[in-house]
Amino acid sequence: MNQDELKKQVALKAVEYVEDDAILGVGTGSTVNHFIDALAPIAHKIKGAVSSSEESTKRLKAIGIDIYDLNEVDLLDVYVDGADEITEHMAMIKGGGAALTREKIVAAVAKQFVCIADQTKRVDVLGKFPLPVEVIPMARSYVARELVKLGGDPVYREGVVTDNGNVILDVHNLTILDPKQLESQINAIVGVVTNGLFAHRGADTLLLASENGTQKFG
Ligand code: 5RP
Repeated sequence: MNQDELKKQVALKAVEYVEDDAILGVGTGSTVNHFIDALAPIAHKIKGAVSSSEESTKRLKAIGIDIYDLNEVDLLDVYVDGADEITEHMAMIKGGGAALTREKIVAAVAKQFVCIADQTKRVDVLGKFPLPVEVIPMARSYVARELVKLGGDPVYREGVVTDNGNVILDVHNLTILDPKQLESQINAIVGVVTNGLFAHRGADTLLLASENGTQKFG
């Protein structure tokens, strides 16, 4: 099985977490795109979705799912999203698709974060995948200098503007031993909107796809 087939396998499994009449939180990325495809046959049973990106919104609308503004919703039962890396403690790096800020906001409102990932995403230590940081454009160089002080090598993701009109710095060469501390430290830099560490609010459930099937953790 190739990686895309594993993504599809885990996405299908996540449909079991969708209850009738639910308003769902929906993440962003290629694994989530498979999840949205898998929702199509049951779209009529779902009340609606809060989406974490323009891309997911477009796909959800295309299968007939109503989109809710997060301000209209007090609590989401389930948020389904992928990850770029995840540890056994359910801390993640996210933001490979540049949707990290909206993803973090929607995840904050969800009772259960169900992370859907293939086995290549499971790591012992976060940081091999460059950590995305969303930055207000005028602060880009200042934030990059501050990130160097923290031991990283920030690289401007050229040509990418987030759904919020900001830019992304991908921070290479970090070995993240204390994800909660680094998440707070980077978020404290003026000009940072948020960073792709999801440690304070990690996943509650991990569905991990491998050749041998999908395993559930948490
Ligand atoms: C987007 C994300 C994605 O969840 C993450 O990049 C994983 O993507 P994919 O499912 O395509 O491997 O955080 O901002």
